[in-house]
Amino acid sequence: MSSINDYLFDTEFLDLSLQYLSETLNLQVMVLDSDGQVLLTKGQANGAISRYYSFKYQHDIGGLTCSAADQQTLQTAEPHISYCLAAMNSQLQRDEELRETSEEMLDLAGQLSFLSKVSRKIIGVEELEECYRIILQEISKAIKAERAFFHTRGRWDHEIRVRINITPEKEMAIRGYECLRRHEETGHTVICTLDDDISLLYSPIREKDNKISGQMYFLRSPNQRPFNAYEKKFVGIIENIISPTFETLRLYDSLQDLYLNTVKALAAAIDAKDEYTHGHSFRVAKYAVSIGQQLSLASKDVNDLEIAAYMHDLGKIGVSESILGKPGKLTTEEFCHIQQHPVFTDKILQPIHLANHIIQGAIQHHERLDGTGYPLGLAGPEISLFGRIIAVADVFDALTSKRPYRDAMPVETALKILCNNVDKQFDRAVVLALIQALQNKMPGSDLEVVNNALKFDALQNLNHFLVELADFITAPKPGPDIRQTNWPDRRASR
Ligand SMILES: [Fe+2]
Repeated sequence: MSSINDYLFDTEFLDLSLQYLSETLNLQVMVLDSDGQVLLTKGQANGAISRYYSFKYQHDIGGLTCSAADQQTLQTAEPHISYCLAAMNSQLQRDEELRETSEEMLDLAGQLSFLSKVSRKIIGVEELEECYRIILQEISKAIKAERAFFHTRGRWDHEIRVRINITPEKEMAIRGYECLRRHEETGHTVICTLDDDISLLYSPIREKDNKISGQMYFLRSPNQRPFNAYEKKFVGIIENIISPTFETLRLYDSLQDLYLNTVKALAAAIDAKDEYTHGHSFRVAKYAVSIGQQLSLASKDVNDLEIAAYMHDLGKIGVSESILGKPGKLTTEEFCHIQQHPVFTDKILQPIHLANHIIQGAIQHHERLDGTGYPLGLAGPEISLFGRIIAVADVFDALTSKRPYRDAMPVETALKILCNNVDKQFDRAVVLALIQALQNKMPGSDLEVVNNALKFDALQNLNHFLVELADFITAPKPGPDIRQTNWPDRRASR
């Protein structure tokens, strides 16, 4: 049963029309619903003759019955009745348009709020698979799907599968359904009911060229109502809006990979200029990452730190191999030339528009806290955190690696040298973080993978030594073991 009252926002015009027809034209007017039930009557019963006029709407919502004492009265009233009816039909149409617009606005507001929630959640998430998981979870929540799975391509077109509350076996079984196999090819969003009465909503993921790059499946158990047209429309719209994001996320991820690999290849090319610095940038990057993690930097910052560390000696491409590999002491002129390599690094990196903290990290690794470093002679807080970390990683690797003018030092000796120079050359917290990172990565674990040639004076006592060193650097007090070494630190790493 439906009636005109269900479809009018304001019934005042209906009331006025009925009053006009009954009082001015001496009619009895009744409003009927679609079942013929009388909803309202105006005017006295005087009807010898009556006529029914239906409201004009998409479906039957009833109409008016007008009764008059005689045929002549009804005939005279006819144009007035038609006018009132036309005005009411027009109001019904306007109200319907308004209702549709309001519903669209509400839908749009719902979609916008959904998208804003999803984008807030995926900002800063670095793992592509995790981004997809968040998107799948949010859509599932919005359409009240208990289980879902998702299949698409990741970086270098690798396959990515995300499942929520569903086993791989069940996923395989569902994908085998005939109705889905048909629609996977045509690329339509569909609702199917599976054999066990599970309601399934399937949506393809289309990219710019309209090629299907993945599929989303949402499931609702038999004790819930099946998915409806609204939920199907919602998923279709969200898929439409979010598909370019999938593509961008995938490309961005591939680009990040490509970018880091290019940086690594460049760094390896620089290291190859000098047989003694072979693998230096790789090891500095690993030590810097360990220090960054020990300092609890965010994972995005650790990634940036790794890039900066790989790039730290890029400028050595502008320094002659005969200077880089010179076995003896450098002349003042040669040393001045080598001191220019951070400046060359800066010149190489500027056109790439990297984030400032990455460039700073790469070019400040020879600055010293006391202001006597190079190339700019920055002091204290002028040196960025990345610059301080890479400085420690760089010198630690230089000391523990063989050089043309000396043999590789044992880890203990290298650490003592770093400790001797805290607050003058190195940041105390950064040196402590390296010691703690080494404590966590004892010989036989990651540390040996980073540098197979690392030497330890007394392996069995290293942990004890590191603990003592950490205590020393946390609460500095002069101690013979640590202060005895007087290493010419400018030559530690050129
Ligand atoms: Fe350097």
